[in-house]
Amino acid sequence: MQQQPDMMDKLVSLCKRRGIIFQSSEIYGGLAATWDYGPIGAEIKKNLKEAWWRSNVYERDDIEGIEAAILMHPMTWMASGHVSSFEDTLADCKSCKKRFKVENVTGKKCPECGGELTEARQFNLMLKTHLGPIEDEGSLTYLRPETAQGIFVNFQNVVNSMRRKIPFGIAQIGKSFRNEITTRSFTFRSREFEQMEIEYFVKPGTDDEWYHKWVEERFVWYARFGIRKENLRKRQHEKKELAHYAKACTDIEYNFPFGWSELEGIANRTDFDLKQHSRLCGKELDYFDEATKERFIPYVIEPSGGIDRAILAFLFDAYREEEVKGEKRVSLALHKALAPLKAAVLPLLRNRPDLVELAKNIANGLRKGFKVMYDDTASIGRLYRRQDEIGTPYCITVDVDSLSDRKVTVRDRDSMKQDRISVDTVKAYLVDKFKD
Ligand code: GAP
Repeated sequence: MQQQPDMMDKLVSLCKRRGIIFQSSEIYGGLAATWDYGPIGAEIKKNLKEAWWRSNVYERDDIEGIEAAILMHPMTWMASGHVSSFEDTLADCKSCKKRFKVENVTGKKCPECGGELTEARQFNLMLKTHLGPIEDEGSLTYLRPETAQGIFVNFQNVVNSMRRKIPFGIAQIGKSFRNEITTRSFTFRSREFEQMEIEYFVKPGTDDEWYHKWVEERFVWYARFGIRKENLRKRQHEKKELAHYAKACTDIEYNFPFGWSELEGIANRTDFDLKQHSRLCGKELDYFDEATKERFIPYVIEPSGGIDRAILAFLFDAYREEEVKGEKRVSLALHKALAPLKAAVLPLLRNRPDLVELAKNIANGLRKGFKVMYDDTASIGRLYRRQDEIGTPYCITVDVDSLSDRKVTVRDRDSMKQDRISVDTVKAYLVDKFKD
């Protein structure tokens, strides 16, 4: 199924209108390729990270989570190959001064104005910074371009402190930074973004099997949290596409309005990183297998996804437009676990203090278990529309009858079916709806 071409504009506008994603530093005209998550977006992001962490760190017994620093010893990036190889080949247009990745240009003319291009040059994508008061070569370091290296340098710490045996994995969620040149398509390619990465350490020789397992596992995860299967596909990298550290890689791609594009890559990184770190730090980073009395450097399977890209895909996939009673209804059919608000409590009349009080009490009673919103700032039709647009699964409406019969109406976002339930059972009702 091809996505509608104007979907991007619709989603960008919805994100701004409803507090999901804003341009970073917007009041100063914005900062290219950086984005801020608003009150609703921050909840979606938090829920997505939690869903990933739960699936990998809590539901399995072979993965530990860590949180390493963004700033790392500069030797890290020598070892990983990022200082020497994390580069794009670029050329500038002599007329319009725009800069292009050479791989995206056919011929030697500027794709925008037809002007002459400069000779191609290498450009490292890492963002540099200096630590301490003196800005010289000695204080130079980088903002990490991937979270993976924070895991590799802690491999032995985790093995030793958690008494882990291979196969096992280390998971991490965190910010990464890249000085990207092509920055189109909303949050898809940002300069500051978040990754969710696992480095899964296995015995050499079992790596192919684990690689295929992880490709399946990660594909199913996106479907589990609501992405339609027809909008997901796997694409194996050709040899020439492989990163310098990879023996094999499969991308999980989503059918974005701008075409099929990578959501996550699952790579077989072999023993490249541990070997490199061992060589540069001068310490053994191998593993002793008690059972076989063998000593070896583990191979690594790496499922590496982008949080911002995943959010973009979940938003596109959840976006619905339909006609209800002659009016357009826009809704986000987000998986309940990802929905930013779990319920909204809406009084039908806002000028009735007794009704408002009952509605506020219901909302307050739910707050300990659920992220809920109380809203009485518009007519009920508009209040429903707002909640539909941010994907709130349940709207709880308090009406005049609620005062006498102690019942409220709960409306389901997707079916729009309504249940009339007792005020005293609202919490239990939601608990039941949100159980796994
Ligand atoms: N550790 C391996 C690694 O970083 P990658 O394919 O460069 O591999 C992994 O990045 C994931 O991180 C991508 O699949 C994508 O989801 C996300 N990602 C990479 N660059 C990004 C960017 N500039 N903006 C947003 N997400 C990005």
